[in-house]
Amino acid sequence: MRHGLQGYRRGRSDLPGGNQQRPDVVKWIEAFEEVLVPDKGGLEEVVAAQTKLSDIDGKLGRLSYVGYDIHDLADHSTFEEVVYLLHHLRLPTQDELEGMEEQLIADREVSGFLSDLMTTLAAQTSPMSMLRTSVSAASAHDPDGWEHDDAANLRKAIRLIAMTPTLIATYHRLRTDQDPVPSNPKLPHAANFLNMLLGEEPDQEAAHALDVTLVLYADHTMNASTFTARVIASTLSDMHSAITGAIAALKGPLHGGANEEAFKMLEDIGDVDNAERWIHDALERKQKIMGFGHRVYKTEDPRATHLRRLSRELGERAGDTRWYEISSIVEKVVMEEKGLYPNVDFYAASVYHSLGIPTDLMTPIFALARVAGWTAHVREQYNDNRLIRPESEYIGPNDQPYLPIAERTDEAAS
Ligand code: COA
Repeated sequence: MRHGLQGYRRGRSDLPGGNQQRPDVVKWIEAFEEVLVPDKGGLEEVVAAQTKLSDIDGKLGRLSYVGYDIHDLADHSTFEEVVYLLHHLRLPTQDELEGMEEQLIADREVSGFLSDLMTTLAAQTSPMSMLRTSVSAASAHDPDGWEHDDAANLRKAIRLIAMTPTLIATYHRLRTDQDPVPSNPKLPHAANFLNMLLGEEPDQEAAHALDVTLVLYADHTMNASTFTARVIASTLSDMHSAITGAIAALKGPLHGGANEEAFKMLEDIGDVDNAERWIHDALERKQKIMGFGHRVYKTEDPRATHLRRLSRELGERAGDTRWYEISSIVEKVVMEEKGLYPNVDFYAASVYHSLGIPTDLMTPIFALARVAGWTAHVREQYNDNRLIRPESEYIGPNDQPYLPIAERTDEAAS
């Protein structure tokens, strides 16, 4: 974080109405209303909230959840344990973990209302639009209704985390003219999702690989979708509204949509021999390479370290390392040419492909994991809330005379 005023300049927020004619009042307001405006747009390096959930050190390439290093969590934890950690701010005991696992299994089922809606959504909407609409619609049948206390919000959070895999899998089965696969209560979260999606119980390696990606994606400080969720929560709007907004923000290619775009790029490159030239050409055209660069990390994204390894391992296991090899060349050229590191989305693309996940479901799977973090952030926001309402710096014209419409000319309009 920057200290002092470096990276900021002094600006002035909009003057409140009235009294602008009195010089003494204007002078006072000007002094009082002076604000600091960051040099760069996009709220870069602006701290928007305090959180106990996750932390990033962009220079050292560190990420932690509640103080636990992401490498330890990726190596030893499970998604269910991370859900507990994010929602209770401590690791569970064995009994507590089993309780969380049971609750996530019990809440997988969606209401008849959502199942009926899914037939239309599967026929007519893209996967992320389906997810956004379904989560919004789920509020109509949540057993806690409009209850807004913390216990109700925790229950809503667990239901949303539990049902997201069901929504994605059911949508995919219906749009491909296959029968939905019921949840298997014997399978944990990641394995059950693959089973419901592909109609085949995954082996342990595949289930574990997906589980690791869910752990890696579960939370990531004040990213665009989490910020969106917290802004919505700060108005004291409900949990489902906040998560619906978060999904909408995640949908864009500069955020969650990047993993899908990264895989489309790998497909477009198609062949290892083509990779170097393809990237050089793309960079020459000033094209952004999806899955590279990050607002906060200035070194390797620690999540990419695990995903690179998984991409290689899953490729070797399937006897097809083409996507991993193309990815390695892309990584090398982008580093040489632009000095940019891969972010979480780059190697996630080939990992998800190796697991049999269709390209357009890669962003929904990001949501499937991140809903753990979003819901925890929403509860954190409610528990110490102040409306998030930043300033804007007005840069338009001032003191414009209001002309009656008959007196306005084309020239004045241009
Ligand atoms: N490919 C090529 N150039 C890139 C790049 C990429 N993926 N990411 C950043 N750059 C370049 C920009 O063109 C810019 O160059 P310039 O100064 O010559 O104009 C410079 O690096 C700074 O980029 P900027 O877009 O200002 O950084 P940001 O902090 O606003 O953006 C991202 C961060 C993530 C939005 C950006 O890196 C990006 O668009 N990456 C691709 C999408 C992606 O992978 N998103 C997932 C993020 S987890």
